[in-house]
Amino acid sequence: MADAKSPESIPKTKGLFIKTYGCQMNVYDSERMRDVLKPLGYSPVDSPEQADLVVLNTCHIREKATEKMFSELGRLRDLKKDTGGALRIAVAGCVAQAEGDEIMRRQPAVDMVVGPQAYHRLPEMIARLARKTGDMLETDFAADEKFDALPKTREVDGPSAFLAVQEGCDKFCSFCVVPYTRGAEYSRGVDAIVAEARELARQGVSEIVLLGQNVNAWHGAPPAHDAGAGEWGLGSLIRHIAKLGGVERIRYTTSHPSDMTDDLIEAHRDIEQLAPFLHLPVQAGSDRILKAMNRKHTAEGYLRIIERARQARPDIAIASDFIVGFPGETDRDFEDTLALVKAVGFAQAYSFKYSPRPGTPAAGMQLQVEEAVKDERLARLQRLLNDQAQAFNDATIGRRVKVLFSRQGRRQGQALGYSPYMQSVHVDDAARAPNSMAEVEILGATMSSLKGRLVEAVVPA
Ligand code: 5AD
Ligand code: SF4
Repeated sequence: MADAKSPESIPKTKGLFIKTYGCQMNVYDSERMRDVLKPLGYSPVDSPEQADLVVLNTCHIREKATEKMFSELGRLRDLKKDTGGALRIAVAGCVAQAEGDEIMRRQPAVDMVVGPQAYHRLPEMIARLARKTGDMLETDFAADEKFDALPKTREVDGPSAFLAVQEGCDKFCSFCVVPYTRGAEYSRGVDAIVAEARELARQGVSEIVLLGQNVNAWHGAPPAHDAGAGEWGLGSLIRHIAKLGGVERIRYTTSHPSDMTDDLIEAHRDIEQLAPFLHLPVQAGSDRILKAMNRKHTAEGYLRIIERARQARPDIAIASDFIVGFPGETDRDFEDTLALVKAVGFAQAYSFKYSPRPGTPAAGMQLQVEEAVKDERLARLQRLLNDQAQAFNDATIGRRVKVLFSRQGRRQGQALGYSPYMQSVHVDDAARAPNSMAEVEILGATMSSLKGRLVEAVVPA
């Protein structure tokens, strides 16, 4: 092995470009891939043209996302030709997991395929690639091995950071590929999570976003000081992280209605740092369709959870996901979805046309809904959800809220951040906006963002 101080041990800098598709878990994974590749001399560049290695971190959730990846691979193949074959291309993420062999076969320009539980092995794969021997496809499921192997240090960019606490899903909603691409539910241990949260706080992060495909299914053995307390759930974990100091705002995403425990709901009442925001996908409002989706809850059950959340924290913003045109969905079923939306009043929502995914039970169901009907239902649903988002945002006008500034706005001189309710907020006096929390008076609202005026910088305690 080379001496640590000898010149040959200092790695040459290589350009790394990671393109991320899909969910926040993929964003987290991309950040961790950067951490994994840093010791090999890779540092981020702004475009594939400047890169020695391009990683596509892919999403398999809907057909469109997968198609996007294949067309991007076509462009990268041409770029690779321009570099005389020097450019390395890796495909990571959920398409890699589900269709690794197919990718290798369809696009020979791809050098490596690595699944979401195996990207800690990228350095070994790169070494094998250089030696031109060994397997270029790694799609094992071993979430525990991955988390143990990831570097303990984290490169953070800005005042907000993701922290994965849970991965995978055992719910098997009949439309969803996640249980197949991300594997079984896995909860990281408290000590590892706390160590990572401390590392983020040490680096000056003000907001931690706890991530999981089913984040509220997180559970774990308590640390020594609370040994008699029995298993911890996400509520206890949040209470613990809130006490670490330095972390001003905590969020978590995404949750399943069946795992919405009293403890988690009470955390919204008790913990000041916990953002008054709950992203709780419901998917549909008809019990018949919810059953066919294997969602394990009814529309009424969902409404009761929302009621409990609002009792605990009256100003809580509710967000959700919807699917229209699930197989067998009738006009009547769709009306039930609209009725549920009206009963809740959502602050934000994502809505999608049902997309049949290979290997999922719903893809083989009778009575697939015609595309034109899906289009029409989606448009109606989105009109209603947009009106609700506008109403929610309008209600903030005139209020003062704490905004966590994290980015420059689209227009010059604009700073962009998020309110406690996850509304994006922009102010024009960017020069005064800190890269942290500040108080803002809200002056105007559209359905997707707020405009405000900086009141004063809130100096963190
Ligand atoms: N078709 C359409 N939307 C889907 N989602 C998951 N699978 C599908 C599918 N097959 C949506 C759900 C989920 C979100 C992440 O993506 O609403 O909550
Ligand atoms: Fe997919 Fe359902 Fe699991 Fe969410 S809960 S990841 S929608 S299977």
